[in-house]
This record gives sequence, structure tokens and C-alpha cells, in this order.
Amino acid sequence: MSAFQASREFAEALDRQAPLTQFREEFSLAAHRLYLDGNSLGLLSRRAEASLESVLNSWRDYGIDGWSEGSHPWFELSERLGHMMAPLVGAQAHEVIVTGSTTVNLHQLLATFYHPQGPRRKILADSLAFPSDIYAISSHLRLHGFSPDDALVQVTSPDGFTLNEDDIIAAMTPEVALVILPSVLFVSGQLLDIAKLTAAAHERHILIGFDLAHSAGVIPHHLTAWGVDFAFWCTYKYLNGGPGSVGAIYVAGHHLGQRPGLAGWFSSEKTVQFDMAHHLVPAPDAGAFQIGTPHLLSLAPLIGSLEMFAETTVEAIRAKSLQLTRYFMDLAEIRLKDFDMRVVTPKDDTRRGGHIALVHPEAVRICKALKARHVIPDYRPPEVIRLAPVPLYTTYTDIWDAADHLWHIMDQREYSQYSQHRDIIA
Ligand SMILES: Cc1ncc(COP(=O)(O)O)c(C=O)c1O
Repeated sequence: MSAFQASREFAEALDRQAPLTQFREEFSLAAHRLYLDGNSLGLLSRRAEASLESVLNSWRDYGIDGWSEGSHPWFELSERLGHMMAPLVGAQAHEVIVTGSTTVNLHQLLATFYHPQGPRRKILADSLAFPSDIYAISSHLRLHGFSPDDALVQVTSPDGFTLNEDDIIAAMTPEVALVILPSVLFVSGQLLDIAKLTAAAHERHILIGFDLAHSAGVIPHHLTAWGVDFAFWCTYKYLNGGPGSVGAIYVAGHHLGQRPGLAGWFSSEKTVQFDMAHHLVPAPDAGAFQIGTPHLLSLAPLIGSLEMFAETTVEAIRAKSLQLTRYFMDLAEIRLKDFDMRVVTPKDDTRRGGHIALVHPEAVRICKALKARHVIPDYRPPEVIRLAPVPLYTTYTDIWDAADHLWHIMDQREYSQYSQHRDIIA
């Protein structure tokens, strides 16, 4: 392809050569809507709809026997989906289970892996973490009788948007029992160096786990090879599992076989689960970190969605994602240069996640103006507009059109007609 041009024709030419375009037609893309919020909620695909329908059919056709009959028997479905998910995060099949939700899974992992001993009692996190993670960590510190003011260490950001891995490593002191970090920062889209952080934690005899909510399905990981102790993520963003779809847990093979911190009958080894004994025999695989009955109707769309991921590779998805975000940044540099709008997402490919974060003091009103023009971004405090081109369904032309809308909104100060009041769901 020839050198970058800011024209729509150039975007169209890029689309003609783009990989993965076969998936776009499988998604429900409303006419005239430019959906750039797949990092909050991925779109419905025909295959997800079909797999949901097939689980409904087994309920209708088999009743209770749907646990063992039908096209997707329910009893082993969480394990099966874990196996399908494992290549996306570079894990072995038995190390991943699809269960719970991001926050509940973090509670499970904290209950399992946080064992304060003497002075080694602190949990290290960061000041830009998603609030739910901090609430969960604080809960466990309190349950152990510690105050988060003392026992929660949050590494600060030099610029309010990004973190420096060396600062994080410097905070891995002998008082730290556990490190919990995001793979990709939810506001700025910075990708942390998971391999480096894991190696540094282990050199200091500290366990480390990652929140992969903003990377699962868009960035390859090598969790097993890197030796990450555990990870957790949601499936409703880049994995397109639907609102409230069931989350996932990875636990490194050498930690498997132990009793889960929060046990329930679905933690059981499957062959003895229905013995109904009061003595739990934990499953030998990551299935042990399940608690109760799986939420089948929120698992079902993932069957179809993960089938699509199995038809490509997460490396191919990442390659396209980097090209799309690079294209958007190049375009923004030309078309939005006059409007005091700053990209705070790292430009370096090795440090950039799947979305672009733009900062502007009028971010709330700009987001409203974009929505009025049927461009779907999201807003995050303090002044951030997040835009995510999703490799399975976003085109270069979508990005060009969105940038063009943004240019009009800024050039005509169209945003000034909207209130500065943020909606409840931003
Ligand atoms: C990075 C991150 N962590 C945790 C959560 C909380 O997820 P859940 O509501 O599924 O528990 C979210 C939700 O968007 C998130 O983005």
C-alpha cells in the first residue's frame, strides 16, 4: 500500500486489501451507525444468536436432560468454552474455565491466592485500575483485618494516563504478598509488559495476577509461558459474548489441584459432584474455581462467538487491530490537529491496546455530539473519549467517517449545544 493519505479513497483502498473482512457481515451492524464501543460491549453476531437459540432449544426439548443431551450439553459447557478460550490467552486447555464475572472471579482468586504472612501482607495494584478491582482487593484486605490505607499499595502514574513498569517493579517490596494489575489500562489503552512484570514479581517471591478485560480477544498473551499465576477477564467486550456474558479464569497449571478459596458444588471433580457428599473433591483443572450452577443463557452466545475466533488467530486479530488504531492516530494527527485534542494512548505498537483514548476538556459534550451523529464512542472521566475499532467488524472507512464527524463537531463547535452533564452510563 502506498504512503498514508487522509482521503476517504485511501480508507476504501485499505478496506479492499484488509484481512478478516469475512467476519463483518456476521455482525448486527445497524445501518448508518458507526459502532466504536466494542471495548465496552461487543456487537451481537449471527453465530452467537444461533448458539443462544440452540441452548434455548435444548431447554425446550430436553428439560432437565439438557445437562447431558442436545447439541451443547450443559454440564461440561463451561469447561468446553474454557478449552476454546485457552489459545486466545496462551494457556493450556485445563488452565482456563469460563465462569462467574470479572469481579466475582477476582474475589475467587483473591480468596485463593492472598495468604498474608507476617510482614508480607500488602497487595500491590495501580492508581489507574478499574474501580471494581480496587473494591474487591480492599474487601479481602478488610476480611483479613487490614486497612486498605496501609495494606493496599497503588503505584501512581507520572502523567495521569499511563504507568511505568519500573515504578511498579520498584514497589514490589518484601511487604507485598500479591500483585494485581490490568493487561491494558481501561482509560488510556496502555498495554503493560506482562512478561517483564511477572518475571520481576517471581524474582521477589510474589504471586501476580492480571485483569485481561481490555485485552482478551484482541491481544495475544502467553500466560503459561510467561508463568503468570492467574488471570481473569470478561467476555462481553472484544469476545462479543453479550451483555453480562459469563467471565473467565486462568490459573497456572502448577497451582491447580488446590482447594478454591470460595468453594461450591461446581468446584467439584465432575464424576463425583452428584454423589452429594459433604467432602469436596476439587476438580483437578481450572474448573475447581467455579462456584455454583453456570448461567447457561449467558454462556450460550459464547459458543458461536468463540467458533469465529477459532477460524482465525488472535495474532491475526492483533495485527489488524494495530493497523486500525495506527490508521486512526495518523488520521487524527492531520484532521484533528487544530482542536487541542490529544491522543494519550501509547503510539508504540508494543505498548498500545485495542482502543484509542482522546483527551479534550469538552469530552462529555463531544461524546454526546458524536452519538447524535450515530457514532458510538464512550466517555471516561476526567476528559477522555474512547474509540475502539474492532478487527472483526470495523472498517477503515468506518474510522474515516467517524473522524470526519469528529472534525465537523469540532470545527463547527457543534458540541456546545449539548449539556456538560454526564449521563449515568457514560
Ligand atoms: C478492566 C475491568 N475490570 C473489571 C471490570 C468489571 O467487570 P464485571 O462488571 O464484569 O465484574 C470491568 C468492566 O468493564 C473492566 O473494564
